[in-house]
Amino acid sequence: MIKVKNLTKEFNGITAVNDISFQVEEGEVFAFLGPNGAGKTTTVNILSTLLAPTSGKAIVAGYDVSKKGIKIRRLIGYLPEDFGLYPGLTIIQNLDFFGGLYKISKNERKVRIEELLEFFDIWEKKNAPVSTLSKGTKQKVSLAKAMIHNPEILFLDEPTSGLDPMIAKEVLDMITELKKDGKTILMTTHLLARAEKVCDSVALISEGEILCVGKIAEIKSELKTSTLEDVYFAVIGENHG
Ligand SMILES: Nc1ncnc2c1ncn2[C@@H]1O[C@H](COP(=O)(O)OP(=O)(O)O)[C@@H](O)[C@H]1O
Ligand SMILES: [Mg+2]
Repeated sequence: MIKVKNLTKEFNGITAVNDISFQVEEGEVFAFLGPNGAGKTTTVNILSTLLAPTSGKAIVAGYDVSKKGIKIRRLIGYLPEDFGLYPGLTIIQNLDFFGGLYKISKNERKVRIEELLEFFDIWEKKNAPVSTLSKGTKQKVSLAKAMIHNPEILFLDEPTSGLDPMIAKEVLDMITELKKDGKTILMTTHLLARAEKVCDSVALISEGEILCVGKIAEIKSELKTSTLEDVYFAVIGENHG
């Protein structure tokens, strides 16, 4: 579903992403793990066609990000690091606005929004302005927004960051539900123990380079570690030492 080959992104001489390659299979949950500044958001933004790569290739749902941005954008949902909602608008108004951008008809939008309000358990707050909501509720609205056009592929940048552990668990449980629906999900996260439960595969990235990539079970057996956290400390720690 996602194929990345020798992808590099430079910002005025700074290499944010350095020659990375990986693949995400259909229906897989794939996590990008790494310290702040590793290049996770930059990679997600290239795959979401918000940023152009400096070199290399990225194919999403069979389309080249450098050539078919508009096609790709209809097939993907994107959860940015900072919610990306209109704070002055209510939950319904936000979802209706973004649904309109995808040219979903008024009636279809209404049905879809009701489904999402149910799924994310935010029905009661549907007429509250987003600015009045807790961080956790904002994150659920932001996920609902990413799902408004029922995309096959989801890019979730730090979907649990800043959430308390209970809400973070709820959000990750929802991601598991989306996986059961057959969605392909690429997410970035810091929650290693939870990521281990939700994800099939991971890429460990540091200073723009992928140090380790593959199925979690295979990586653990190769490195003879029992948890993803141990993998992280072994791989990222070695690189920093
Ligand atoms: N628009 C930009 N202009 C210049 N440098 C940037 C820009 N975006 C990201 N960077 C740099 O690229 C590197 C990777 O950043 P980012 O992808 O946001 O990392 P992460 O999401 O893993 O924390 C950092 O050194 C960051 O400062
Ligand atoms: Mg980031």
